[in-house]
Amino acid sequence: MGEPQLWHTVDDYFAGRLLTDTPDEALAAALRDSDAAGLPRIAVSAPAGKLLQLLAQVQGARSILEIGTLGGYSTIWLGRALPPDGRLVTLEYDPRHAEVAVRNIARAGLDQRVEVRVGAALDSLPALADENPSPFDLVFIDADKVNNPRYMEWALRLTSAGSLIVLDNVVRGGRVADPDNTDPDVVGTRAALDIIGSHPRLTGTAIQTVGTKGYDGFALARVLA
Ligand code: SAH
Ligand code: DHB
Ligand code: MG
Repeated sequence: MGEPQLWHTVDDYFAGRLLTDTPDEALAAALRDSDAAGLPRIAVSAPAGKLLQLLAQVQGARSILEIGTLGGYSTIWLGRALPPDGRLVTLEYDPRHAEVAVRNIARAGLDQRVEVRVGAALDSLPALADENPSPFDLVFIDADKVNNPRYMEWALRLTSAGSLIVLDNVVRGGRVADPDNTDPDVVGTRAALDIIGSHPRLTGTAIQTVGTKGYDGFALARVLA
């Protein structure tokens, strides 16, 4: 068994043993309908989705901001962590993705708590800030990686002490640390990591992962003040 195949097998093993308490039908259906609509297969893995849910629960999150909805798979994992009066705002550029996501989120019974906003996140974020929302307890950044430093700055503006920022896809097969790689997405992710490492309001780390999505990882940043 090659390593990527083995990583896949272990993710399936963990999902079978551990993701047993979550009503799974809406999540499975979300992936099926995303596939049927031709969306790219780049949603978080099931174990990573559950991690997002656990992080939101540990946070006691009442409000969550997601940048990059796709078909709403990660949205459903996160949304299930919210109390009935909780709120999740998720930003998606592609109206075809948003349309699939809205259906998937409604089938999961989360449409009262989740709002999908269509448009470039760098347009939606200032509009959201203008509404003076109460600080988001968790921000999940998972959209166009070139804008990751901008998204980190917006996340800082929209959070307060104790909030958690999660940044997806920071490893990309190790490209993050390859000095010869100047891909704009990789450059964007490095800049976001530099913000986490240098900003006086942030403390954080990054973790490498293997699994159904290959070799990648995520960064966590806690807002300090
Ligand atoms: N969080 C999802 C996966 C998101 S994939 C999950 O794990 O289930 C990244 C998404 O970001 C894609 O749907 C893409 O259309 C969207 N995206 C790309 N550029 C964007 C932008 N500028 N603003 C908002 N969303 C964007
Ligand atoms: C890819 C994976 C992601 O998790 C994402 O947010 C964007 C792209 C990818 O594998 O290409
Ligand atoms: Mg991602």
